[in-house]
Amino acid sequence: MHTSASEPFDFNPFDEATRRVPWALFARARREHPVWRHEGLPVSSVFRYADCQAILRDPKTWSSVFPTPPGFDPEDVPRSMLVTDPPAHTRLRGLVSQAFTPKRIRELAPRIEAIAHELLDDALARREIDLVEALTYPLPVIVIAEMIGVPADDRARFKAWSDALVAPLGSIFFAPPSPEMVAEQRRIRTELEAYFVRLVEDRRRTPKDDLLTALVQAELEGSRLSFDELLAMLILLLVAGNETTTNLIGNAALELLAHPDALAALRADPSRMPAAMDEVLRCSSPVQMDPRLATRDVELQGTTIPAGEFVLCWLGSANRDEAVFERSETFDIGREKNPHLAFGFGPHYCLGASLATLEAVVAVRVLIERTRSFARPDDAPLPLHPSIVFRGVRSLPLALEPA
Ligand code: HEM
Repeated sequence: MHTSASEPFDFNPFDEATRRVPWALFARARREHPVWRHEGLPVSSVFRYADCQAILRDPKTWSSVFPTPPGFDPEDVPRSMLVTDPPAHTRLRGLVSQAFTPKRIRELAPRIEAIAHELLDDALARREIDLVEALTYPLPVIVIAEMIGVPADDRARFKAWSDALVAPLGSIFFAPPSPEMVAEQRRIRTELEAYFVRLVEDRRRTPKDDLLTALVQAELEGSRLSFDELLAMLILLLVAGNETTTNLIGNAALELLAHPDALAALRADPSRMPAAMDEVLRCSSPVQMDPRLATRDVELQGTTIPAGEFVLCWLGSANRDEAVFERSETFDIGREKNPHLAFGFGPHYCLGASLATLEAVVAVRVLIERTRSFARPDDAPLPLHPSIVFRGVRSLPLALEPA
């Protein structure tokens, strides 16, 4: 990895060593190459906090609507709120935002806690577990499936769909998709559509007290939500919230293993958990990169980004920017101010931020309460999430000692 000013700088987000420990490279990029053009590609990486924040808050200049990648038909790419700009974005977000207010989310706390205990009951009986399989994957899926009103027992299928949908995320900016990737994405979309069509028809006949019924009612009113938008919304909610929250809980366990003092402080005073999760979000951001498209020629730190080119906002770097965070490379759960960008910024600020934080707070608190200790059985390198968008591990073997 190049970190010294005398060596030529290069940033390859696919390089495995860089993905595992990008921090020194990010720090050098913030100092010397705050906007880095990827050679031969219509893509620049952006590393400073102020630049990422300015981009994310300005959807007129920096759009979330990307051209359909070569090989895909426009129908292959679901147009969820994530990939729309205001005013279409405002309308779509308005339809679901009621379900995600901090008050509504707080009401879910007892149920989230019950699920965490149930999952850990099974795990503790085994002592040696994969934390991802036992807790970090199932917890967010069960919670969102119950909120939407889809059977949580189908979660193995959701995982297969979700893994397949997100694996290529990010790579599309660096190389055109292969015909196999296009075919795979089309197959997944067809399967998801068939799955949800049945559930939508069911709610049309028999309304229930769930998010799916609320969305179906908006769809029935016609002008408010088309069927394609409804489908895109369901896929987004099911996928966007799961990969990310799984990674947050896993990254939290890893940070606490690396910082036994922080773990001891949380055992002594669990009320510090929300601040601790914010520090995990800052130091080990589950979403590392947030892309936008320039709608006009824009100058950024002396580099011109032509209209139609992409910028990749590296949230993982912004969150360690020394211009904003004191001792920015230090994991410190006692930080007073922590305005991290891990949930994005501006109109697309994560809809599920309160939910994700609550799930992580509860999951880690229950893990700590139910164990005297947890430790990695060996130092083998953990398998990384395949997409450069995410920071997280696909499995996390742990030895548990019950409390
Ligand atoms: C730790 C967990 C999570 C992280 C780090 C995270 C991160 C993010 C980020 C960075 C964005 C902004 C994307 C952009 O600027 O284009 C976003 C948007 C979004 N997130 Fe999350 N997210 C998490 C959990 C969740 C959960 C649990 C849900 C809901 C079930 C959720 C639903 C959404 C939705 C619907 C959007 C799109 C919002 C919009 O376009 O207006 N996220 N998330």
